Amino acid sequence: MTNRVGPRRWRGDLHEGEPVEYVGPERDEYLSPGDRGRLITPGEVGDPPPAWVVSFENTTEVFASAHLRPVELPFSLRRADGSDRQAVGDFLEERSTAKVARLGELVDATVQETLVAEKDGRIVGVLTYIIDDDSCEVLTLHVAEPSIGVGSALLREVEWLARGEDCRRVWLITTNDNLDALRFYQRRNFYFAAVHVGGIARDRKVKPGIPAIGEHGIFIMDELELQKTLRPDPKQGLPGMPPPEASPPSSRR
Ligand SMILES: CC(C)(COP(=O)(O)OP(=O)(O)OC[C@H]1O[C@@H](n2cnc3c(N)ncnc32)[C@H](O)[C@@H]1OP(=O)(O)O)[C@@H](O)C(=O)NCCC(=O)NCCS
Repeated sequence: MTNRVGPRRWRGDLHEGEPVEYVGPERDEYLSPGDRGRLITPGEVGDPPPAWVVSFENTTEVFASAHLRPVELPFSLRRADGSDRQAVGDFLEERSTAKVARLGELVDATVQETLVAEKDGRIVGVLTYIIDDDSCEVLTLHVAEPSIGVGSALLREVEWLARGEDCRRVWLITTNDNLDALRFYQRRNFYFAAVHVGGIARDRKVKPGIPAIGEHGIFIMDELELQKTLRPDPKQGLPGMPPPEASPPSSRR
């Protein structure tokens, strides 16, 4: 079973962003053998790297590769082709997302590049995306079986495809009521790029079926633009860090 579509930064069994199991010695109350986490980034340069920064539920640290084992996912990923058109269309239609209204435009998701996750011959996740110049937009992401890693795997995959296309960022629009998605994306290093206050009003003009009330009984009003930087702009710096010009003056005289 293959869990990967796009290129990877490192050869070997461990790949950035993917789930791993801790198989090192007994530790402490924060980490035990068998715990599962996510590879964040290589801890040292090398191919394959000898150490990784790994995020577990209760700790984020550098671990030796020898203490980590990749987790085999219970589904496979692949690019959709013409033979999937009906099944993907039905999947999106069932979630009222075959046509997506965002930034005042109605976009047909069924004709975009598509990744599917499959389990036991069934589609359990669909991600549609648009690569435009140096940006990759996640137009839709939906899973049929939550909390088994499908959403993370699809998002990871599109990020790898975008890197392969030399994109600077992956971005998406979600709505103010979608607190679960906001948590999901921020946990995966996406951050707010813009808030389009009242943006849903213009979306309703192109897609009148958007309901007034969404998740958690919240009025759907605003579009939130999230992004993840793949290639930081040297003038802008990294998210959460001051831009270079805002850095304290050098102590050298
Ligand atoms: C948001 C969404 C795509 C997330 O997909 P998902 O497949 O449930 O996501 P994952 O399973 O990868 O991750 C969800 C949680 O399950 C946990 N999880 C993943 N695999 C797991 C496993 N095998 N065992 C236990 N927990 C697991 C993850 O750790 C994650 O928690 P975290 O965020 O604290 O790390 C999905 O909820 C969805 O389709 N929502 C509706 C549509 C939507 O809002 N789309 C996004 C807006 S565009």
